Amino acid sequence: MAGMHSELAVTAEGLVKRFGERRVVDGVDIAVPKGAIYGVLGPNGAGKTTTLRMLLGIIEPDEGSRTLLGRNHPREASDHVGYLPEERGLYPSMKAKEAIAFMGALRGLDWKVGRARAVTLLENAGLGHAADEKIRKLSKGMAQLVQLLGSVVHQPDLLVLDEPFSGLDPVNQEKLEALIVAERDRGATILFSTHVMAHAQRLCDRLAIIAGGKRRFEGTVDEARGMLPQQVHYVPHHEDDAIRSRLPRDAVRDGEGWRFELPSTGIEALLVQLIDAGYGISGLSIERPGLHEAFVKIVGRDALKDMQETTQELGA
Ligand SMILES: Nc1ncnc2c1ncn2[C@@H]1O[C@H](COP(=O)(O)OP(=O)(O)OP(=O)(O)O)[C@@H](O)[C@H]1O
Ligand SMILES: [Mg+2]
Repeated sequence: MAGMHSELAVTAEGLVKRFGERRVVDGVDIAVPKGAIYGVLGPNGAGKTTTLRMLLGIIEPDEGSRTLLGRNHPREASDHVGYLPEERGLYPSMKAKEAIAFMGALRGLDWKVGRARAVTLLENAGLGHAADEKIRKLSKGMAQLVQLLGSVVHQPDLLVLDEPFSGLDPVNQEKLEALIVAERDRGATILFSTHVMAHAQRLCDRLAIIAGGKRRFEGTVDEARGMLPQQVHYVPHHEDDAIRSRLPRDAVRDGEGWRFELPSTGIEALLVQLIDAGYGISGLSIERPGLHEAFVKIVGRDALKDMQETTQELGA
């Protein structure tokens, strides 16, 4: 068992957190492989932050167990962990490079080493000019980047980032993506939460989707996207009122043409069907749905199920 877990940077089994009567995290399992970029996705209030806090040992779960870098007590691993909390904050009177070194020192890094690394980190992030600026003089997004650099200055084995992209402009979001990849290439494991699917789709080796405190999906981005049929956009050469009856039943108007799901019979059968229909093919594209669509399907389907259960209860 110990050998198996040594391949995992983070594990959780059956994590539960209650606030009052509400189980805001309701039996979540997580297994983050070492060296992976792992996303925790979910709508607002899903329980992402509460889950991350339990994994880090900031709050104790009511039920379930977890390990962090092989330790049963997450705080024993804290010198090897970097953390960007959801609520940001640095001492406003510190200079940027001092704030970074200070965060490193809290995780056991030598102050002088921290200051030297801070300058390099700031320069690499294109923020060299801000090294001697006080935090209070930085914009919100810049201060967030400084805090992020402070979470990696001690070169942690595990980096936990709670909504790291929120509040950053598109250029800084790209910088952050590059930083996450660079940290992974250095050998770190990254666990981050987000509700922005584009970042997750580009970055994640694996991801969990949480909604209503429950894990609804776990797997790779491709596995999530594979849960939905591909989308076909078909533009005929010409059409008449009868065309609708010759297309798959879910076909809807889309621009000059029609959009529908790729039938389970496959692409060849669809081509035969379209050619037989006799309206010609002036345009045809077949697209894999994005993670966004998969997310909506996974989260929405379960919300729909909850609603149906409620309706049944009301009807009973
Ligand atoms: N300390 C607390 N006391 C009471 N309720 C709490 C507490 N912390 C969180 N909650 C509730 O637990 C639920 C989950 O919150 P959590 O912050 O974990 O969600 P989240 O997925 O991180 O959401 P967001 O995307 O908005 O950050 C929410 O309904 C929240 O109101
Ligand atoms: Mg949160």
